[in-house]
Parts: sequence; structure tokens; C-alpha cells
Amino acid sequence: MFDKNTIIGIVGSGAMGSGIAQVAATTGHNVVLFDNNATALNKAKTSLATTLKKLEEKGKLKNADEILQRFSFATDINAFADCGLIIEAIVENLDVKKAVFKQLETVVKDDCVLATNTSSLSVTSIAAACTKPERVIGLHFFNPPPLMALVEVIPAVQTNDAIVAASKTRMEQWSKVPIIVKDTPGFIVNRVARPFYGEAIRILEEGIADIATIDWAMTELGGFRIGPFALMDYIGHDVNYVVTETVFQSFFYDPRYKPSFLQKRLLEAGWLGRKSGQGFYNYGEGIQTPVPVKDTVLGNKIVQRIVVMLINEAADALHLGIASAQDIELAMTKGVNYPKGLLQWADDWGADKCLAILDNLYKEYHDDRYRASVLLRKNGILLRKFL
Ligand SMILES: NC(=O)c1ccc[n+]([C@@H]2O[C@H](COP(=O)([O-])OP(=O)(O)OC[C@H]3O[C@@H](n4cnc5c(N)ncnc54)[C@H](O)[C@@H]3O)[C@@H](O)[C@H]2O)c1
Repeated sequence: MFDKNTIIGIVGSGAMGSGIAQVAATTGHNVVLFDNNATALNKAKTSLATTLKKLEEKGKLKNADEILQRFSFATDINAFADCGLIIEAIVENLDVKKAVFKQLETVVKDDCVLATNTSSLSVTSIAAACTKPERVIGLHFFNPPPLMALVEVIPAVQTNDAIVAASKTRMEQWSKVPIIVKDTPGFIVNRVARPFYGEAIRILEEGIADIATIDWAMTELGGFRIGPFALMDYIGHDVNYVVTETVFQSFFYDPRYKPSFLQKRLLEAGWLGRKSGQGFYNYGEGIQTPVPVKDTVLGNKIVQRIVVMLINEAADALHLGIASAQDIELAMTKGVNYPKGLLQWADDWGADKCLAILDNLYKEYHDDRYRASVLLRKNGILLRKFL
């Protein structure tokens, strides 16, 4: 279905679109990069040239000029006429994406596959806007696409099986780690990772520990590369809060995914994190970073509460068949760089211990947020056995 000669079309030349275009061109494809904003497109063209040259200087690739010649840049959608695979990476808005997919179908060949890089919208809804919904699929890359190995491959309800298999193979040929995920809110990574942020905020709101202490506990004791508050500030609250809210609404208001007022207020204040100079932390010049309370008893409690909630999400996603156990482990280690897979973590702690922590939280709070997945409740089960 796809081979090295397939011309790849990319819609949207922002952070994700140009990153995906770089991956495709570096693997040998000719790439058409399209944007309806000529300024954005020019910016992408300049920055792709700079990035490829820099990689060449560092010895990470040999042929920057050759790769650059594989690109064509377009503000006219008709430039996609000869493409065999188009990946859309425009604004995260269902109506706009549907309109673009409808327009794409009037331009492309009958056998051209149409993929969306949406992080949170229903791939099935986007496919339903097309006359050939069976050729639509989700290919969810992570930021930045050239560096992050994971790609979530999301068949819509209507997607043809052969397109799923060919897309997975193509992603492998692009040196990516593709996992197959059901078309459900947040797919795997953005669903399972919610408690990393949400539970950390709860601990803060309840006055159990401050941001610096929670971040210290999760990095120093939990082994995560970055703490939840530093990470939310890095992602930006305009993105991170909106993903949480979308996942919460899409799960029919399941309390497990309930957003916090604290983060909503940061967003309303324009305290978006690093990019605005202030989020949970203040990034102003000369401002001292808050000092954590390095109390390991408290720290281990924090790690236990957040990690057990992550484990519960992973176990429930497995229970509901959202992805295979192996793919859930790959998702969290390759998509968000967790120190180990959550199912592995459950087995290391023991399902009984995880269940006891969750049941204690449930007893204390009487909140459905802390209900344990039935998979953990099945006595003595080893999640590893699914791997
Ligand atoms: N940024 C991330 O971390 C990330 C990660 C994974 C997935 N995503 C998803 O990828 C998509 C793009 O995100 P981004 O961060 O690259 O956005 P971005 O704002 O950096 O870029 C979007 C680009 O699309 C262009 N565009 C908008 N509407 C268009 C249209 N109708 N036709 C053609 N071009 C159009 C804009 O001019 C802009 O250049 C979104 O769906 C987002 O949810 C983002």
C-alpha cells in the first residue's frame, strides 16, 4: 500500500506538522507540506532547513541538502493530488478538521490514505465526514516527532483493516514504535497519564505537600524524569488543562478525570507556565526556586498515591481492551518516558498492595475517582501474564 516512493502530504506546518514532515523526508519520502497561512509555512521552511543543517553539522545525518530537496511547500491544497498518505496536523477543532478532510477527498487519489494527528478528538467522527471513511485513520505522534518514538495508530470504527496493518508497518519503517489503540478519549497516553497531573494537584489542594516537594518526591523517589508541576508548566496550561477537560467531558464526566479549579484559574489568569513566565512556578529572573521538604516518609506517600492511580488507569485500559498489555507498557515508556511500564510497576508492588491503597483512598474520600479496576480486584492476578 505504501512504499518509499509514496509521496507524503502534511496538512499544517506547525510544531507537529513540520516535525512529522522531517521524519518522512529523512526516511526518503518526497513530502508536500501545506498550510493555509503563508507566514507559518515560510517559518516552517526556514526552520526545517536550519534543523537539518544543524543535524548534519553534529554528524547525525549526512545529506541535509538532499533531504531538503524532497520537500515542496504549498498553500494550494491541489498540491496533494499525487500523495499516497496525508497526515493532518492543524488546529485541534473537530469542525475545522472535518471540513479539511472533506476538501482533501475532492483533491486526492481514490487510494490515498487520510490520517489525523489529533490528540483528543474522535477519529470516527472525522472519518464520518468523508465519502470513503474506510481510508481514514489516526496517527498520533508525540512532540517533538523526530525525537519521540511512539506513534498511536488509531483505527476509526470504519477503518479498513489493511490500512491499519500498512500504517503500522510504515511507522516501523520510519523507525517509530507504533501501538494500536481503540478510538477512545485520550487514546492510551493521554488517558493513562491523567492522574500524574490530577492526583498531584489534589495532593497540593489538600495541603499535604507543596509543588516543590511533590516534584521532588516524583523525581527523586519515583524516578520520573520531571515532576508533575514542572511538566504541566512545560506543556502549558492552555494545552494540559484543555486535554484534561476534553477527556473528562468525553468520558461522560467520570470523576476519575475531573479537572481542577486551581489549574483552570492559572489558565484564566494567563499563567500558562514556562511560555508566559509564570505557572505553578515563577520563571522570572532572579526568582528563587522553592525548596522541597525532603521528608522521605511524606515523599513515598506522595509517590504511592500518584503511581497507584496511574497503575489503576493502565489496568482499567487493559481490562477494557483499549490496547494490549505490551502496547500499554510501550505507550508510557516511549510516549511519556516513564521510568518503567505501569503494569510492571503493579506487579513489582503486587496487585494486592495496589488494591489496598486504592480501597483505603476510596474509604477515606467516598469518591468514585478512587474506585479500583476490576482487574486489580481479581485476587493475586499478575498483570505481567498479559505481556
Ligand atoms: N503540540 C503537541 O504537543 C501535540 C502533540 C500531539 C498531537 N498534537 C496535535 O497536532 C495538531 C497540530 O498541533 P500543533 O501543536 O502542531 O499546532 P500548531 O498551532 O503549531 O500548528 C498548526 C498549523 O496548522 C495550520 N492550519 C490551521 N488551520 C489550517 C487549515 N484549515 N488548513 C491548513 N493549515 C491550517 C496553522 O496555520 C498552523 O501552522 C493538533 O491536532 C494537536 O492536537 C499536538
